[in-house]
Amino acid sequence: MALLEVDDLRVDFSTEDGLLHAVQGLSFSLDAGSTLAIVGESGSGKSVATQTMVGLTRGAQVTGRAVFDGEDLLTMAAERLRRLRGDAIGFVFQDPLTSLHPQYKIGWQIEEVLQAHRHIANGPARGKAIDLLTQVGIPQPDRRVDDYPHQFSGGMRQRAMIAMALALDPRLLIADEPTTALDVTVQAQVLDLMRRLQSQHGSALLIITHDLGVVADLADDVLVMYAGRAVEVADRRSLYYRQHHPYTVGLLGSVPSAAGTGRGSRLVPIQGSPPSLLRLPPGCPFHPRCPYVMDVCTTDRPELQPIAGGASGHRSACHLPEDALGRGPDAERLRVEAAGAHRAVGGPAERLLAGRGEGGEPTPVGGPPPAAALAPTVGTAGPVTAEVEAPSRPAARRVGTGRTGGTGGTGGTGGTG
Ligand SMILES: Nc1ncnc2c1ncn2[C@@H]1O[C@H](COP(=O)(O)OP(=O)(O)O)[C@@H](O)[C@H]1O
Ligand code: SF4
Ligand SMILES: [Mg+2]
Repeated sequence: MALLEVDDLRVDFSTEDGLLHAVQGLSFSLDAGSTLAIVGESGSGKSVATQTMVGLTRGAQVTGRAVFDGEDLLTMAAERLRRLRGDAIGFVFQDPLTSLHPQYKIGWQIEEVLQAHRHIANGPARGKAIDLLTQVGIPQPDRRVDDYPHQFSGGMRQRAMIAMALALDPRLLIADEPTTALDVTVQAQVLDLMRRLQSQHGSALLIITHDLGVVADLADDVLVMYAGRAVEVADRRSLYYRQHHPYTVGLLGSVPSAAGTGRGSRLVPIQGSPPSLLRLPPGCPFHPRCPYVMDVCTTDRPELQPIAGGASGHRSACHLPEDALGRGPDAERLRVEAAGAHRAVGGPAERLLAGRGEGGEPTPVGGPPPAAALAPTVGTAGPVTAEVEAPSRPAARRVGTGRTGGTGGTGGTGGTG
């Protein structure tokens, strides 16, 4: 059984402008000892989703289930959840000062956690605090244990926060952009640390990140979020080399290949902006930005569905043919042909593209994959090798169901399997 099973999580906020749908039906599961990375542009609901699970979202309307070790976090008593948080579930925030109190010594704060949750006496708690600071690589820990947070550098504060999150050996560690504020060298150390501690303690890691290096180094599985929903879920290898959703293609393709050499390379927002979560576009929420938009995309929202040719568990929410996988030229041709075949002359998709000033032709969002950029740089798993060719077996077509104009339901990609 999965350690964490999230099912149809929905989070709405009442705002002056109406109901804001921050998370809309998010489902995923996470096993002990494994790592799931959640990626997506700013504002896609990543933080709201994870903070809601542990009761840190105020004033939200929440439905769904988030079952941790058999108990639903969303319905459990506040006191029970408060105890689980910081105990069985550790949380690392982007800003260490969210967790560290500026007026108390670092060591005292770690000791406080140990005493409150484990009833460890003063002396041993101090010893354990020093031990934890040693584990996270704080120099001269027996002296620095008496420093205040402001006496630590940003990287050291981040490590101290991780030490605090790990003090109780959490079974689940949720890390929200844990390395975003750090320089590249410190990022590498923090990631190494999380990986080492995860393997020592067998914890599950749920990591939110913009950083492709973090994904490549740590993630077993990746969930791509867009406008409050999961639009693609895959194991790391499939996500990098056989991604299906044009948003994922765009996120990976927009990494400058020269700079995209692993850690430090970031998800660069693709052309256009994410939609307002107050007023989502009809159909596929990505359609106003998608270079492959078809008529059906403007009316029918695609569900997250298994990709037949992909690895098990690979799912994508997109009307394009299932065998358009990856960023190689064959996949790009499949996408362009399928999309072109499902735009009626003068139809909504064609008008949309014309309005973007692209003469009705989609602009490919990705080039060939910068394979070296995406291989893990430190990971314990072996290097990922590029696999960009389309799968040999033709997969079922998603388009061509007769709903779209122009092709009479043939899918428009004949001869490409
Ligand atoms: N307390 C709140 N009230 C209203 N809207 C909120 C609140 N918290 C977050 N949001 C909105 O929810 C959306 C998702 O935010 P967030 O989860 O922080 O995005 P991400 O972490 O992916 O960058 C954003 O549009 C944000 O403005
Ligand atoms: S092809 Fe259509 S369904 Fe797929 S991402 Fe683009 S707009 Fe959405
Ligand atoms: Mg966030």
